[in-house]
Amino acid sequence: MVEELNPFIYDDPLAPDELIDRDEQTRLLLALAEGGHNTRLSAPRRYGKTSIILRLLAEADRAGLHTVHVDFYRCVTRAEAARRIEEAYLARLAGPLRRTVSALTRSWHTRLNVGAGGVGVQAERVRELDNQRLADLLDLPKRIFAKSAIRTLVAFDEFQDFLRIGAGLDGLLRSKIQLHREEASYVFAGSEPGMLDELFNGRGRPLFDQARPIPVGPLDDSDLAEYIGARFDGADRDPGVALELLLDLARGHPQRAMLLAHHLWEHTPRGQVADEETYQSALDAVDRETRERFERTWLDLGSAPAQRRVLAALANSPHSLYSKATLLAFDLDKSTVQQAARALAYAGDVVRVDGRFTTVDPLFERWLQRTQR
Ligand SMILES: Nc1ncnc2c1ncn2[C@@H]1O[C@H](COP(=O)(O)OP(=O)(O)OP(=O)(O)O)[C@@H](O)[C@H]1O
Ligand SMILES: [Mg+2]
Repeated sequence: MVEELNPFIYDDPLAPDELIDRDEQTRLLLALAEGGHNTRLSAPRRYGKTSIILRLLAEADRAGLHTVHVDFYRCVTRAEAARRIEEAYLARLAGPLRRTVSALTRSWHTRLNVGAGGVGVQAERVRELDNQRLADLLDLPKRIFAKSAIRTLVAFDEFQDFLRIGAGLDGLLRSKIQLHREEASYVFAGSEPGMLDELFNGRGRPLFDQARPIPVGPLDDSDLAEYIGARFDGADRDPGVALELLLDLARGHPQRAMLLAHHLWEHTPRGQVADEETYQSALDAVDRETRERFERTWLDLGSAPAQRRVLAALANSPHSLYSKATLLAFDLDKSTVQQAARALAYAGDVVRVDGRFTTVDPLFERWLQRTQR
């Protein structure tokens, strides 16, 4: 028997035509990019930022822009950042434009090799060269525009890792992008909301007000139901009552919904309807898959007991976070809650929705409910 392919992807960005919804965001992002505006995706972890970027770039391509997707994930040096930018351009461009980029790359490799081979080269000199190279690469949209008269849409993903490479990189970037009004538009995304908010919203920070935030919220239950249902249908399966249970648990969290759907599908044989028991087996599988991660997160909070208590309270208290009952039950006081909740929001573990703090990850919340009884 041929193994059937599970249609629910939950560990990679999606192909542009696989996204649920996000039409409005994509349209807005494209319109802003075409108009020369910079944007940033403001969303919790695993809400589909990269998927939206890939879709935006696909549409921008069709609209005639040049597009580049640079992923700075775990990038820690200027040299590595430079390499990622080079590769991103080389991957997307062809013909004379590609040659423009590779000529720049080659000239830098020569300069750096000569530099590194010299006797007594100072670390400072190397740093300076790395900075210049980065500056040149950040200016690529200008060269591309000079050759093609076409704007480049540059996506900087996992942008916090770029900024973390060293002090001054936000300043360097700003000095470039502010001169690219004609030649480039930028879209920034990252998985550390607190840090990015600080950098883009902090008065006096170089990137202050440089990119318009575009919020990316949870998915609608009805959209999720339609998408999940269609994929079950297409493979001669029925999610049955399990679909409702899944949607209740996922609370519109895109990746969590897909993870749950993936396992539900695994546990639903062809020609069958999923029931509560099926759902339970799927949940068990999900729990096994996520447990280690949640235990790690909990351990990482070992030095922040107040944050642990706030998470436990959010998951388990039937009352609001600041209510007397909750404060008493979880050994908290108002100012401690305030500080801890702010730290959790900074890290992206909780968000404020309509003035109330909520745990971003519904499965982490479930884990907290199961371990904190
Ligand atoms: N619009 C969507 N429709 C369906 N599934 C989605 C959507 N957006 C995200 N997902 C799910 O979330 C997963 C993660 O998506 P993606 O990598 O784009 O998120 P991200 O926000 O970039 O994550 P990270 O914070 O780790 O960078 C996807 O594999 C998919 O399962
Ligand atoms: Mg991403």
